[in-house]
Amino acid sequence: MTTQERKAIDIPQVEARTPIPRQNLRVPGPTPLPPEIMAAQAQAMVNHRGPEFAAIVKRVTLRLGYFFQTTSPVMTFPASGTGGQESTIANLFSPGDHVVAIIIGNFGNRLAKIASIYGLQVTRLEFPWGEAAEPAAVEERLQGLPPFKGVLMTHNETSTGVTNDIEALTTVIRRHSPDTLIAVDAVSSLGSVPLEMDAWDVDVVFTGSQKGWMTPPGVMMIAASPRARAASKEAKLPRFYFDWGLALKKLEVWQHPSTPAVSLFYALDVALEMMLAEGREAIFERHAQAGTYVRGRAKAMGLQLLADHKYASNTVTAVKTPEGIDTKALLKKLREQDGVVLAGGQDHMEGKIFRVGHLGFFCEADLVETMDKLEARLHEFGYRG
Ligand SMILES: Cc1ncc(COP(=O)(O)O)c(C=O)c1O
Repeated sequence: MTTQERKAIDIPQVEARTPIPRQNLRVPGPTPLPPEIMAAQAQAMVNHRGPEFAAIVKRVTLRLGYFFQTTSPVMTFPASGTGGQESTIANLFSPGDHVVAIIIGNFGNRLAKIASIYGLQVTRLEFPWGEAAEPAAVEERLQGLPPFKGVLMTHNETSTGVTNDIEALTTVIRRHSPDTLIAVDAVSSLGSVPLEMDAWDVDVVFTGSQKGWMTPPGVMMIAASPRARAASKEAKLPRFYFDWGLALKKLEVWQHPSTPAVSLFYALDVALEMMLAEGREAIFERHAQAGTYVRGRAKAMGLQLLADHKYASNTVTAVKTPEGIDTKALLKKLREQDGVVLAGGQDHMEGKIFRVGHLGFFCEADLVETMDKLEARLHEFGYRG
């Protein structure tokens, strides 16, 4: 290419920056931030290899262990929840390994997809969207399978508002295959609803900062049991950024292999302090009450929920859009006129459901406003329940 042919790149004409509106953000992540946590991020930068940051990493790591309910070290990576899925696959397995993916919605499906992309043989145990994986059905399906190296599943399926009974599932999986590697995607549940990694004998648990942790997106947290750490030493899949060996080595001196999201650590540090002040069980109770309230209000309006009530999630509720109502138009009206932001459905549920997030930082008034505004807008759209 000659100098004359070179095309100048113009400064792009873009919309002017405007302030972020105050909204009642009720999507299942990212979730709202308390003022203390927003302020924490505004602090000056520090050296991520210096003593100030090491003190933060140590505090955050040890406190995360309490919320993961594990004595295994909790690693942190600059990533979203999907990074946890990829990290799990890349560290545990070798090409061609057989794994079982228990799928109850979009995120279980993504985990299975990543496993396939990495060259694993994936047996999919699928359940209809809205249902949980019934332990008895899982046990029956496992009987007919050739040996497998691991089981992948979601704790809380954010796309459907369903929470799997991980304790019961690990029991049946272990009965069938005692040493299999059990990995649980707890992106939208950990810290908000009970999950006891060690007591339930789960090998890998991961979550994302933008869900129940009152922190912006960008920190993925993952713990691996001794069984999982041993397996990762033998696993042959290629990895670097998400390599547990490197992360664990650096964690010995409260550092990371690459540059961590320093400001997000400031936020997570304060978030964990606030969570401890509230109390883990009190947080679980607040989420249980939120789930009960949102489901109760939806049912009182005559709406149908997607989730089997036995397994309904306490962090997100998926509501079927009533016949004749345009989901997109309804959510647009709520967002633009009421400042209430709900999430739509994913994949084949797009247009058929909408989802109300109730995790992380919220109070009763936020949920009351959400359901009041929803009820009013549904009436405006002609819904009579
Ligand atoms: C259960 C679950 N797993 C994985 C993900 C993917 O996380 P991210 O969008 O942060 O990559 C999500 C996101 O909502 C999720 O809810």
